[in-house]
Amino acid sequence: LSKIEVKLGDIPEGKNMTFKWRGKPLFVRHRTEKEIAAEEAVNIAELRDPQHDKDRVQNPKWIIVLGVCTHLGCVPIANAGEYGGYYCPCHGSHYDASGRIRKGPAPLNLEVPYYEFPEEDTVVVG
Ligand code: FES
Repeated sequence: LSKIEVKLGDIPEGKNMTFKWRGKPLFVRHRTEKEIAAEEAVNIAELRDPQHDKDRVQNPKWIIVLGVCTHLGCVPIANAGEYGGYYCPCHGSHYDASGRIRKGPAPLNLEVPYYEFPEEDTVVVG
């Protein structure tokens, strides 16, 4: 229960899948080359919670974050919002495809949990 194993081959490029981990939603997203390039190019000086994309991923193809808005804890919607990542409909927070807060009331980026890739096609979170 404290760990979850996800088979990455089941998640097509461009898709986000939601799992349940420790009672919370967990987002695993297979990013496209275009998304990776866009997130790596963001000027972190413009960010509210400045973090480079490289510091939020182990493999740029995969963004793994908790699906818990850092404002008041609603579950954001994937592939929505003005920055192409996640949108929280509760009070209008927009996150990018690195899970970084870009607009709206949330103070922090979506949390990146501890995870490992024991094999190329598998991630274990927790
Ligand atoms: Fe997400 Fe308020 S809980 S914007």
